[in-house]
Amino acid sequence: MLNFNVHFPTRIRFGRGKIEELGGEILAYGNKVLLVYGRGSIKRNGLYEQIMQIFRDNSIAYVELSGVQANPRISSVHQGVKLCREHGVQLVLAVGGGSAIDCAKAVAAGVGYEGDPWDFFTGKARINHALPVGAVLTLAATGSEMNSNAVISNDETAQKLGIGSPVLIPRFSILDPEYTFSVPPEQTAAGTVDIMSHVFEQYFSPTPGTFIQDRLAEAILKTCIHYGPIAIAEPDNYEARANLMWAGSLALNGLLKAGKRTDWATHDIEHEISALYDITHGLGLAILTPHWMRYVLDAQTAPRLAEYARNVWNITGEETMIARAGIEKTAEFFESLRLATSLSAIGVEENRLAEMATKATSRGTLGAFKKLEYQDVLNILHAAYGG
Ligand code: NZQ
Ligand code: ZN
Repeated sequence: MLNFNVHFPTRIRFGRGKIEELGGEILAYGNKVLLVYGRGSIKRNGLYEQIMQIFRDNSIAYVELSGVQANPRISSVHQGVKLCREHGVQLVLAVGGGSAIDCAKAVAAGVGYEGDPWDFFTGKARINHALPVGAVLTLAATGSEMNSNAVISNDETAQKLGIGSPVLIPRFSILDPEYTFSVPPEQTAAGTVDIMSHVFEQYFSPTPGTFIQDRLAEAILKTCIHYGPIAIAEPDNYEARANLMWAGSLALNGLLKAGKRTDWATHDIEHEISALYDITHGLGLAILTPHWMRYVLDAQTAPRLAEYARNVWNITGEETMIARAGIEKTAEFFESLRLATSLSAIGVEENRLAEMATKATSRGTLGAFKKLEYQDVLNILHAAYGG
């Protein structure tokens, strides 16, 4: 295990009815809020009206940044920064999934910066300070509600890039599993895969001696495998939604990566796909992951892939054989969630795979569990294209 520092500063308010604590949480930072949300789900499920009532009861003034798209765009961030400056906003409140929260974080970082906030994503500028961010989560997937990251797309440059800074970690997040009852089956499936993928990116690591991190990781994977299908079949099953929601936060809040080198190659490749095709992030991961696993399996990685097969899927037998069987179980599980299994099936064009591989490796080699160069990434994309 490597040395590490961790800090989990987000106040999590978890459970039914926890929205009643929103007013107090906001007022700790001021009474002028930028409310950031997506394209209507919070109006359809009644959450928007609940929040309006809380604003009225607590004399909280607000301006809205609505219509934030899945795979949020830098244009929304520009709009949000302008609103914050015009209205003297003191807290950015995201209500939604990862896209609303990521957009809120980028806005919060951009307010105190004179240049274009896109500079943070290209590495031209560093984030030193940000407005406080709070979140009301409505979709279990990204972990953005408890972490320092934000991922934003730029249509002009066809890029999707991430930032991370401790100042972006939400000060508080309200996690009421009932708000996820209305998440449709395909988004529930994609969210489940995203959570699993976050675990894989940290579990499949070259660092030895991380028994505790690895057992925690396996528990999160088992939670997704058990409760993902239940949440899809019974959307208002509280226990399933609650377990998935907490799994999502724990998978990417710093707990699993403490003391290890982590991989992230599958995510880096997926971001190039959703940058060009605006697909659902978790769907892209579901297609890529089994191909990544098959590609990286060799004598060096087999023990860890076999450990995954043994501990998560209860497969026993010879090491390489069970490593392979664990990979196939993963592919079957994603298929059972009714997610597409090939890039061709979701409209990705074969003649753009090289462009994605080039962009994915433009900042250097990918991965740590197994290092991937341009040709490796292209091979994985080709395999995923055919399914
Ligand atoms: O826009 P609305 O109408 O709200 O609809 C959303 C959207 O269409 C809908 N939805 C959300 N909550 C709902 C609901 N529909 C019904 N009932 C509800 N309760 O679901 C759709 C997807 O929402 P989105 O926020 O885009 O999903 P997700 O949470 O999966 O976020 C995906 C984004 O986060 C990035 C992804 O790349 C992608 O851009 N990621 C962020 C990370 C982070 N900040 O740490 C890490 C991840 O690896 C990921 O890259
Ligand atoms: Zn992800």
